[in-house]
Amino acid sequence: MKSKTAALILAAGKGKRMRSSLPKVLHPVAEMPMVAHVVKVAIARRCDPIVVVVDANGRRVREILTATFPKTPLVFAVQEQQLGTADATRIALEAIPSFRGRVLVLYGDVPLLKADTVGRLTRAVEGKSLSLLTARVANPFGYGRVLREGSWVKAVVEHKDASVTERDINEINVGVYMCDYGLMREAVGAVRRNNKQHEAYLTDVVAIASGRKGAVGVVVDDRDEVRGVNTRAELAEAEGIMRRRLIAFHQNRGVTFCDPENTFLSTETKIQKDAIIGVGVQTYGKVKIASGARVDGPTVIKNATIGADAMIHSFSHIEGADVGKNASVGPFARLRPGARLEQGSKVGNFVEMKKSRLGRGAKASHLTYLGDADIGAGSNIGAGTITCNYDGGPVKHPTTIGAGCFVGSNTTLVAPVKLGANSFIAAGSTVSVDVPANALALGRARQVNKEGYAKRLRRKIHGKKA
Ligand code: UD1
Ligand code: MG
Repeated sequence: MKSKTAALILAAGKGKRMRSSLPKVLHPVAEMPMVAHVVKVAIARRCDPIVVVVDANGRRVREILTATFPKTPLVFAVQEQQLGTADATRIALEAIPSFRGRVLVLYGDVPLLKADTVGRLTRAVEGKSLSLLTARVANPFGYGRVLREGSWVKAVVEHKDASVTERDINEINVGVYMCDYGLMREAVGAVRRNNKQHEAYLTDVVAIASGRKGAVGVVVDDRDEVRGVNTRAELAEAEGIMRRRLIAFHQNRGVTFCDPENTFLSTETKIQKDAIIGVGVQTYGKVKIASGARVDGPTVIKNATIGADAMIHSFSHIEGADVGKNASVGPFARLRPGARLEQGSKVGNFVEMKKSRLGRGAKASHLTYLGDADIGAGSNIGAGTITCNYDGGPVKHPTTIGAGCFVGSNTTLVAPVKLGANSFIAAGSTVSVDVPANALALGRARQVNKEGYAKRLRRKIHGKKA
């Protein structure tokens, strides 16, 4: 029978180098806390149980992980004092005392690691005491160095404790280990805090395992994967790498990015082939962009859907909206939650839409606010139209505009109000009474022309000289 693997994720460190009041492992990379990326790896490796070590103030880590992975039961173990990675591992092991099998130790600050890479440890550990991931990097500063003897790993020495010659070694410890539960428990019990940082280093377990059936290092070729994030600068680097990875993924599926360096995609963005993503586009949360759509930047899209062949012009801000096939948005449009643009409809510049439907082929081309409105197919909403949905009270009032209506410029629609199909509203109207279908509504004062009065008026203002 295949041996079971428990994941132990260390996430209790102070993260002093981040200089933050947010726990280090909660700093996000591609919108997800670093530690959640690591939990994802453990889930992908089918680890069971998954133990996360948090500190005494780890309530937030616990809440966020529980909310992010509602289907995965996670075991939380509390490390009261941050005495080092070996101490954290001991606490994780004690949280699952009856577990038998292998343990996979992961650090919560290595967010770019891939599950497949971690999988290489399983085969490597067969017949040995321990396997660990290593990497050869250009700048090993700060990392533990891997000391080898032939093909075996003898030990890992921490940067701060390394001699000058050991610091020249460019093979680093990634911080991912696999080993039998019993051996790990015994080894972490034997680790002492006799080093520069007075911490119980988990890395000391490597030397202990090496004295048994041996420790074997699995070299990771992709140096980006192994980056530990301890500072804000390293966080920004990790973000950049994640972003490039996501863009490469979509490029391979037929998406054009006009300027990949200036595009920010969320992990949950799905883009179909032949979509074109312009300079400065940012997506957040669950975003879907269908094939042939073009999004010009700068534009922000959050939790929204952009239909096939739709055109989003630059400087648009789209959140919680559903833009239909062939629809056109912006430039300078704001679509707020609940905005729904049906096929071929158009929202032009300086138009704000909230919780409203714009029917097939309907248009609101300029300077308009549509809130809690339902607009039928083919209607035209003139420049400067406002749906007055708010009267200061607790409920917002609806405006219903039938199909084929023409709403003249500068109309105020005082909700709740209904315009029947094919009605025509004269420009400048204030409409507070329902309009029947096919009617013309004029809701404004009649114009008066006073012949010659302009001259008299000027004289009155400027005196005889005028
Ligand atoms: C560690 C390794 C180093 C490796 C590097 C890779 C040790 C002693 N050193 O160094 O060899 O090259 O990672 O990125 O392991 N943590 C706890 N409790 C503690 C201390 C730490 O849970 O008492 C957690 C932290 O939240 C973090 C992880 O363990 O997620 C690693 O700790 P960190 O302080 O970042 O170790 P490094 O100095 O990066
Ligand atoms: Mg670290």
